[in-house]
Parts: sequence; structure tokens; C-alpha cells
Amino acid sequence: QLNDLAVAAGLKYFGTAGQEGTITSDTRYRNIINNKHEFGQLTPENGMKWDATEGRPGAFTFQSGDIVAGVAKTNGQLLRCHTLVWYSQLPSWVSGQSWTRPALQSVIESHISNVMGHYKGQCYAWDVVNEAISDDPNGNYRDSVFFKTFNTDYFPIAFKAAKAADPNAKLYYNDYNLEYNGAKTKRALELVKLIKAAGAPIDGVGFQAHMQVGGTPSRAAMANLLKSFTALGVEVAYTELDIAHKSVPASPSALAQQGNDYANMVGSCLDVPGCVGVTIWGYVDKYNWIKNGDAALYDSNFNKKAAWTSVSSVL
Ligand code: XIL
Repeated sequence: QLNDLAVAAGLKYFGTAGQEGTITSDTRYRNIINNKHEFGQLTPENGMKWDATEGRPGAFTFQSGDIVAGVAKTNGQLLRCHTLVWYSQLPSWVSGQSWTRPALQSVIESHISNVMGHYKGQCYAWDVVNEAISDDPNGNYRDSVFFKTFNTDYFPIAFKAAKAADPNAKLYYNDYNLEYNGAKTKRALELVKLIKAAGAPIDGVGFQAHMQVGGTPSRAAMANLLKSFTALGVEVAYTELDIAHKSVPASPSALAQQGNDYANMVGSCLDVPGCVGVTIWGYVDKYNWIKNGDAALYDSNFNKKAAWTSVSSVL
């Protein structure tokens, strides 16, 4: 089973995102989530985001976030907590107005201390800042309400607040499209340095790794890329791995290719001492956030795919 194999191979965990509503509604889905030998780590897919936890100013709600946190606690699985400062799934009371720095700083600090405070001691890691870099050719910082107000100063503000709220959680920057060693990757390296230079703590960089079948770099290229981050003194992890087909149903050869691609991604984490684990962003095609991509390790009937077998053989 994948987590047992991953731990034997030197990782801290192999995990999956868990969908709050589906855990509640589908027993088959829930039973596999509950198997800590398969998934030793869980991430709540939506329940800890800003719109779920503080939809109105100062009115904190944890019903949804507590679902996956509760499952992980019951089963003894690690919990990655996701996410605090993100431009998306951000209520319009935050995104829809212009702020002075002091006003938005206290909103950020209150959000972080309340949400992290609620889960204090339960999170192996927190994605403190998510997707702060754009996909434009220069890899500019994303023009969110946070960037508009603070330029890059909101990074140290957020990471310092996170350290104060739960000193034992690993504090991560998390983003996608960092896997191709382009402008966005360079910017993420700069971001880590900038946070450290501001005297703020950062422990890790999460590579979401939302990939396409046939579009993953080689295992060696990925390992080198991860090493360029661990060289800065941070750990790394694949935090949202999925590999989508261009069209479905996928041919047998596309399913085999998907397996090779998964094996290269997972294998690259094994090759880097500072790569702590792999989280897949949903384990089953039936409920995957990517529609018509069959991106997961289990098919819609909960059967293990060729990709599952490839991952199990590389571990
Ligand atoms: C996605 C969820 O999977 C969906 O259910 C939701 O509708 C939108 O967000 N990057 C992230 C994740 O950091 O939080 C996103 O999750 C996928 C992309």
C-alpha cells in the first residue's frame, strides 16, 4: 500500500486531498481515505480556505475544515493544512475593496491566528501563502489584493504571523507550474530568499504539480529542480500531484504513459533528501476536481489504474 511503501522508501508520507462533502456522502470513498497504509497524510480540499473559515469578517467557522482534520486525527494520519493567504476562494469582503496597509495587515493577522489557532498542534505543515506568482512570461508576482496593498511585504507579515500562531507547524509557500524551471520557478526561489532576508521563517516549498500526461519533465530534471530549492535550506514536497489526460477515455498507451509520468514525479522526490512526501490532489477519477481528465490513481469504479501500479513499483 502506497504510504507503507513510501515510508519504507524514506519519505515521511504518501497522502491525498480529501473532499469534505464526499467523505460524508460516499462510504466507498471514505473507506479508502481511512486506510492509513494507503494514505498516511490528508489535506482538506476546500474546508480550511478563507471562504470556508471566515466568510464574514471575524466570524470564524470550522465545520468544513474539521471534517478532514477529524478523520486524520482518528486514523493517526498526518495533516497538511491548506491554505491561509490566497487570492482565490477569498471572500469579496477581503478582495473587493482597497485597503490601507495597517487595516489589511490586521485582517491577515487575525485570520492566521484564528484559523491556525483552531488547528494548533494538528498540522504537520501549513500552506501559508498559496499561488502568489503569476503565469506571465516574466513570472511577475500575482496582482492580488495582497500584492496591490503590500507589494511583497505581505509574505513576511504572513509567515511571521503563522510562526506566532503555531510554532511547530512547518510553514510552506505553495504554487503550481514551478515544475518547468522557467520564470515562475526563478521567482519562487527569489520569494524564499526574500522571506528569509526579511527575517521571517519559511520551512518549505510545496510543488502542487498539476501536470499533463506526456508533459512531465524527466525524473532527473525534477530532482535537480527540487535540489535548487533545498539548497536554500527549505524542505520540499509535491502537495497536489495529478496528471490529466488531454482527452478521455484514455487509450491503453496513454494510461501507461500516465503511469510513467507519475513514477517519474514520485521517483524524483525519492532522489532528493529534502523532499519529505507526496500528496495527490484526489485519489479517484470519479470525484476529481479536473473534469474529463482522469488524472487520478483510481478509476471511477474505485479500481487501481496502471498509474497506481507504476507508483507502487517506483516506491
Ligand atoms: C481546488 C479544489 O480541488 C476544488 O474543489 C475547488 O473548487 C477549487 O480549488 N490549487 C490549490 C487548490 O491550491 O486549493 C485547488 O483546489 C487546486 C489548485
